[in-house]
Amino acid sequence: MIDLHVVEAKPADAPYLVEVIHAAFGARPPLDPPGTAMQETAATVEAAVREYGGLLARVDGEPAGAILFSESTPISGSTPPRDDSDPDGGARWLELRRVSVHPRFQHRGVATAMVGCAEEVAEGRSVDGVRLVARAELPATLAFWRHRGYVEAGRSGPNVALVKRIPVEFAVPTATDMRAVGERLAGVVRPGDLVLLAGELGAGKTTLTQGLGAGLAVRGEVTSPTFVISRVHPSTVSGPPLVHVDAYRLGGVAELDDLDLDMSLDEAVTVVEWGEGLAEGLAEDRLEVVLTRSTGAAAGVPSDGESADPRWVRIIPVGRRWVDAPLRASLSPDAGGAA
Ligand SMILES: Nc1ncnc2c1ncn2[C@@H]1O[C@H](COP(=O)(O)OP(=O)(O)O)[C@@H](O)[C@H]1O
Ligand SMILES: [Mg+2]
Repeated sequence: MIDLHVVEAKPADAPYLVEVIHAAFGARPPLDPPGTAMQETAATVEAAVREYGGLLARVDGEPAGAILFSESTPISGSTPPRDDSDPDGGARWLELRRVSVHPRFQHRGVATAMVGCAEEVAEGRSVDGVRLVARAELPATLAFWRHRGYVEAGRSGPNVALVKRIPVEFAVPTATDMRAVGERLAGVVRPGDLVLLAGELGAGKTTLTQGLGAGLAVRGEVTSPTFVISRVHPSTVSGPPLVHVDAYRLGGVAELDDLDLDMSLDEAVTVVEWGEGLAEGLAEDRLEVVLTRSTGAAAGVPSDGESADPRWVRIIPVGRRWVDAPLRASLSPDAGGAA
């Protein structure tokens, strides 16, 4: 049994971090142009940790893994983006630098554990996602990141930028507020998008979908009919139709094609109400929304005198489509810039 620990690095850990970085990068095949990791010293690493932090992994007490953090700041200060003409969406990223596993400790899950911790740090710092640069000549490294949900965001010579959005979570005090979340979501979605709503019966999936339908200005009431599995709501304003699928009742669908809808989903915004466990295979790009009923005291002050029965909404962007979407700025209740 091995004892694997990942801790947030302190400046005093710099000698261990630099040892791991040198061992890991020194063992890579020679690259042209070579990376700059071998130029790190205890002093440069200490300065980096002091400013942005990092991670140190230990296996049986021995330094085994290292990551240095950095943070990007939006070019336009704190102004939320209005649309996607800004390719970066004004997003703030936690940058991972010098991701290293000591060759002596490879294949023990050190990198995976560190990446999980880095994503937790990113969520704690309320950034929009995690970003790093990998080398195109190292396909196994690229595969490692893709396998963990990182998508390619750009290339510059041999450098590949990889990004992963971090989930956005907030409390929704009342049903009215849940509708409002759906209405704001209408400003974010585009034709071809798939939104998966997960949560137990009564969690608020249909309520959110009603708000989305109102925001998209579609015809027909969004309901949870007993026998209808899916329904197409045409737009009244020449926008995309809303396809509302209640797979909760089916116990899930293997593929959306099985629904045999009389239209192409490329032109519609599709919402699938789901139960527990999200469908990995349903689509490469999807917005997963997990609704949970919070127990205990109300998580906020009701906005309209309705008695609060709060839900938690956790939004998990999956795939390329959502890399630039300004989800936190557009969807959370304190969002100034609802689209
Ligand atoms: N904070 C809240 N968010 C969403 N729904 C709420 C909330 N508080 C109370 N409700 C009520 O809970 C019920 C949710 O039902 P519904 O949206 O049909 O759930 P689901 O589709 O997940 O089964 C509605 O009657 C709604 O009015
Ligand atoms: Mg429902």
